[in-house]
Amino acid sequence: MKYTKLGKNGPTVSTVGFGAWGISGRDWGAADDDAAVRALHEAIDKGVTFIDTADVYGYGHSEELIARVIREREKRDDLVIATKAGNNFYPLLDKHLPVTPVNHDYSREHLIFAVEQSLKRLGVETLDILQLHSPDTEILERDEPWEVLESLKRSGKIRYAGWSVQSFRETEQAPFLERHHDLLDVIQVRYNLLEREAEKKLFPLAMQYGTGIIVRIPILFGLLAGKFNRETRFPENDHRKINLSPEKLDLYLSQLEKMMPFFEKYDNYTMTQLSLRFCLSHPATHTVIPGMRTVEQVHENIGAAEMDYISYKDFPSLD
Ligand SMILES: NC(=O)c1ccc[n+]([C@@H]2O[C@H](COP(=O)([O-])OP(=O)(O)OC[C@H]3O[C@@H](n4cnc5c(N)ncnc54)[C@H](OP(=O)(O)O)[C@@H]3O)[C@@H](O)[C@H]2O)c1
Repeated sequence: MKYTKLGKNGPTVSTVGFGAWGISGRDWGAADDDAAVRALHEAIDKGVTFIDTADVYGYGHSEELIARVIREREKRDDLVIATKAGNNFYPLLDKHLPVTPVNHDYSREHLIFAVEQSLKRLGVETLDILQLHSPDTEILERDEPWEVLESLKRSGKIRYAGWSVQSFRETEQAPFLERHHDLLDVIQVRYNLLEREAEKKLFPLAMQYGTGIIVRIPILFGLLAGKFNRETRFPENDHRKINLSPEKLDLYLSQLEKMMPFFEKYDNYTMTQLSLRFCLSHPATHTVIPGMRTVEQVHENIGAAEMDYISYKDFPSLD
């Protein structure tokens, strides 16, 4: 495993971290807690020190599984846990929805309540990193969420302040990094071989301010592993039914097909490993957080940390 400092003010973390949405028991089809716990243990055994979660993942279950794994371990590993708040799932608890809808609440009252709940679930007195969970632009315009983030940091409830930038709004929302860079230790950004909007404005600003960058959705929900085709269909309780709909699959696969000569050239690595390596090859990024649901996925994905150097310019361009 390789380690890096997450921006000029952030903690030291493994360059491959563990995205813990997929293990949460909601939004990804059938779930298996025991497999999830095995995958988490294996990742930590192999040197992963960074886990990304959110209060809303599995309505708290992702945080609970992480807490269980920490309890089961003999020594206190140097883990850094990043969580998120602002997506208020509490009113949805008895609604039995197949996938979790977005329900933004970035009020002071809710954010403080949400942080207290995450502290309890994770069994800690301070959250390592708290990220605003991809608010809409009009919410980011308000002072309140930023003021709460700042006061949580000042009071010691959180160690580092973060913001998960909304998908497909990377350029539109970049000015908020300019406005709040003194407060923000880290940002989380959607970025992968097929989705590179963040390169235009957000990455240069983050480099200018020394902000840590966490890369999410690095294998496009599994698509960049090469395991889906145009006939792939997802069940009602899998968000990919919408986010990888037949139309989207068709578009993404057409782009991916053009990149096959690249994957064939580096055939000593898997498509997943090359996709993860791409995310780490940009000079602005620090750590990548693939979702992993099995020990086998952990083994393959952490291999990306140890790969030979491939320069950003050697990866295929998007045209
Ligand atoms: N707004 C936000 O802040 C936000 C939004 C999305 C995600 N995130 C964070 O980012 C993390 C990563 O994103 P993500 O999990 O949505 O997407 P991702 O990392 O691009 O894809 C994860 C999925 O890919 C499949 N996969 C992983 N490794 C594989 C391998 N070696 N071979 C084949 N398939 C493999 C698994 O799905 P199957 O096993 O089911 O096939 C896994 O659940 C999340 O876990 C979460 O922590 C944050």
